[in-house]
Amino acid sequence: TRVLRVGLAGFGNVGRAFTRMLMERSRRLQELYGFEPQLVFIADSRGFLGSATGLPWNTVEKALAAPRGGVSRLEGGVQGNVSEAIERFSIDVLVDVTPSRYDSPGEALSWYERVLSSGGAVVAADKAPLATSCGRLLWGSWGRRIFYKATVMAGTPLIDVLRWGLAGRVVARVQGILNGTTNYVLGLAEQGMSFEEAVRDAQNKGYAEPDPSADLEGFDLAAKAAIVSCTLGVPKTVFEVERLDRVDEDAFRRAAEAAARGRRLKYVALVEPGAGRAVVKLVEVGPENPLYRVDGINNAVFIETAEAEPITLVGPGAGLSATASALLSDLVSSAYSLGVV
Ligand code: HSE
Repeated sequence: TRVLRVGLAGFGNVGRAFTRMLMERSRRLQELYGFEPQLVFIADSRGFLGSATGLPWNTVEKALAAPRGGVSRLEGGVQGNVSEAIERFSIDVLVDVTPSRYDSPGEALSWYERVLSSGGAVVAADKAPLATSCGRLLWGSWGRRIFYKATVMAGTPLIDVLRWGLAGRVVARVQGILNGTTNYVLGLAEQGMSFEEAVRDAQNKGYAEPDPSADLEGFDLAAKAAIVSCTLGVPKTVFEVERLDRVDEDAFRRAAEAAARGRRLKYVALVEPGAGRAVVKLVEVGPENPLYRVDGINNAVFIETAEAEPITLVGPGAGLSATASALLSDLVSSAYSLGVV
């Protein structure tokens, strides 16, 4: 059995869900793929806990029981940042589940550079580095060792379909619902819930970003559109994002009104790689539109190609289990990319 040394950056809801799944599935991964994942470090916002030979699972259990930002206070834990953890421990794969910091993606990028340039792989749920520097990360030798399907549709494998399934094809358009939180809260608006209540509900369920304004202002959708666009080879995308504060009380009122008329308000993204363009907007759809039936945190996209009829993908677009399993799946891909499988 070969060992895959994993460093985990970020230990919030998603990081913990991924860790639990990794523990549960470790044996299965060994049986199916012949490698044993070893968690070499866990880094949170204050420090890290690590072991060069892999953290024993009972130590990982203790980390899971620790409060947020608390791993450095456990026995063997130290205060410090992710870069220091990467310096100190030798890893094969960095799993980045830190919150997407669009204002300063540079820190996460420096981790990626360090890991990728020393021959390792990156698995990301963090959207900021890919949304801002996708070309540099993807379109060179590094691209073969970076996996990011958790960044879009919480891993309903749109990214894999675009990257591998449709390799060599001409994708003319990708459009649909790509943010689970806004689809969920617009659904609650139709039932008469207030804006604040609906957002709190989405946060409590772990759908919204740590700062939910990223969802509500269209930023999350724009980042996903940028990642989709870059995956399709577009170096620079020009954005048109419907006023970022529109999915608020006004949109809530419009959603309830549309529902009363038998229609629904949906927050959609449209990516046109040929034109290097992406649009994020609120649209009203009737029952004849397939988006009409997309409920809750589900996402749906239509991929239009030059060669054949459109391809539709429908699946969860947010949620801990969906995101954690996307990371686990990408971990397997990373093991393939490193020749460990
Ligand atoms: N906050 C995001 C959403 C999570 O609601 O779609 C998945 O990217």
